[in-house]
Amino acid sequence: MKINLRPVRDENFDKVVKLSETLTDYQKKYVAPNMVSLAHAYVNGDRAWPRAIYLDDEPIGFIMVALWGDDIPKEDCPAYYLWRFMMAKDHQQKGYGKQVLDLLIDKCKEDKIKTLYTSCEMDGDQPYKFYTKYGFVDTGINDGEQILRMEIKYNKGATK
Ligand SMILES: CC(C)(COP(=O)(O)OP(=O)(O)OC[C@H]1O[C@@H](n2cnc3c(N)ncnc32)[C@H](O)[C@@H]1OP(=O)(O)O)[C@@H](O)C(=O)NCCC(=O)NCCS
Repeated sequence: MKINLRPVRDENFDKVVKLSETLTDYQKKYVAPNMVSLAHAYVNGDRAWPRAIYLDDEPIGFIMVALWGDDIPKEDCPAYYLWRFMMAKDHQQKGYGKQVLDLLIDKCKEDKIKTLYTSCEMDGDQPYKFYTKYGFVDTGINDGEQILRMEIKYNKGATK
């Protein structure tokens, strides 16, 4: 069973949009519907990187990265911002989210990115621990949501 990321196109659009319906009512309050995220991707063009998350050939989630860092401190740039992330309810807590972050780090390395940012709320059943367990560090800044950051580690001598 292999996690992989694919562009959202006409043929998988409906399935990706429907994944949002699987979230709990609580989760729906904190994550924009995939339909809305795809509209944001459309208006942002090349500045957004939306991808369907697949388990082998089955779409099970959605991720979107903002490829610009206008609000990010200069010393952390080039930087990406993990903007949207959701896994269909039946596929949560199975280790797939962590594998998606691994793939995202690979992309950051390919693109020579210095820092990956994200944000989340802290109350209730929020994925704050999911992110901090993975290696994101709380910046202590709250901009409506808690801002988390991770420095991308490059192995000395590695080609990527
Ligand atoms: C957040 C989300 C993407 C994580 O994906 P996932 O596939 O469920 O995560 P994983 O199974 O890879 O979890 C990895 C670790 O994080 C922990 N974790 C996952 N979600 C968590 C949560 N909400 N709160 C606390 N810990 C969490 C897991 O228990 C696991 O811990 P372990 O390594 O000690 O076993 C997914 O749960 C989801 O879609 N949630 C609803 C939407 C959402 O909140 N999106 C993020 C908006 S900021």
